[in-house]
Amino acid sequence: MKEIKKVSWRSPSNIALVKYWGKKSGMQIPANPSISFTLEHCYSETTVTLLEKERKSKDVELRFYFDGKENMAFRLRMLKFFDTVAKDFPLLQQYGLLIDSTNSFPHSSGIASSASAMSALAICLCDLQDQLDKKKTAKDKFWQQASHYSRLGSGSAARSVYPYLSEWGKARGIKGSSDDHAIPFEKNLHKVFKTFQNTILIASSAEKKVSSRVGHSLMKTNPYAKTRYEQANKNLAGVISALKKGDLEKFGTIVEEEAMTLHALMMCSSPSFILLAPSTLSMIEKIRRFREETKLPVFFTLDAGPNIHLLYPNTIKRKVDNFIYGQLEQHCEQGKMIHDNVGSGPFRVK
Ligand code: PMV
Repeated sequence: MKEIKKVSWRSPSNIALVKYWGKKSGMQIPANPSISFTLEHCYSETTVTLLEKERKSKDVELRFYFDGKENMAFRLRMLKFFDTVAKDFPLLQQYGLLIDSTNSFPHSSGIASSASAMSALAICLCDLQDQLDKKKTAKDKFWQQASHYSRLGSGSAARSVYPYLSEWGKARGIKGSSDDHAIPFEKNLHKVFKTFQNTILIASSAEKKVSSRVGHSLMKTNPYAKTRYEQANKNLAGVISALKKGDLEKFGTIVEEEAMTLHALMMCSSPSFILLAPSTLSMIEKIRRFREETKLPVFFTLDAGPNIHLLYPNTIKRKVDNFIYGQLEQHCEQGKMIHDNVGSGPFRVK
């Protein structure tokens, strides 16, 4: 089949400092604003090739490859996503699509890949549609659209398109903030945070027992929901002030409170569920003790899973490495961990 156009983008994962957990009605409309560090080494790389169509019909013609192998489950997920965005991307019906996606991190590492995968795909679509329309969308607008379509694929993916720090969700006092798309927030970042390391300690790589879709929906009946949304808004304002000033202690206090709250909400929802593993708790205890003893700024956060994201400035990397290999590695599944850091956002590969 004749190849018409092809683009490849690399887009990273992100780690939320203030968590998005709970939706308003509509498509991925967050119940509270959130903010995240953009990562560097955990990314998806996606190539979308437009081909001449085999049949003259409006049906989407899609072949989806993940890590070089055709993947039918992912293909179905893509088709569902395409249904929601088809009216904005005529190319989806005009051409045959060949999508090839890989992750830099193992699929079975327990690291959520939807943020990097959906943002990489959304960026490819925006880029291709612009090229076909011979349109040169202004940079700001391009990234806003990419964030919007990423969000429709997976809420937290909206934040992956901006370098270093990204805010998503309408928030009082934040100009330009929106439930529709994330906004870049790097200019509010003290330089110490640009050096931040994120070591992901893999407590378990098993598939999640409860999807984040189900987790979000259980917030609808969670008795603490209202208080939680108030807390998230307060924590957002607090963490932004800490990120601006370079206040590591305040940053750590809020970020750890957010991690523990996320999991507490899961535990007290109905039905209740637990995504932490015993080794997660052992590591948290050791991190707190290490911090108390050394006074070093080493903090943790958690995603919707048992893995610990250790956050610390680059200047203390050697000391933290000693701590990790001396005390934490033994709690990781087969010693597995990923060394990442805050990063500069998506880029075009070819
Ligand atoms: O993007 P989703 O629907 O998979 O939700 C992600 C939710 C958390 O990762 C737990 C928190 C966040 O803000 O990223």
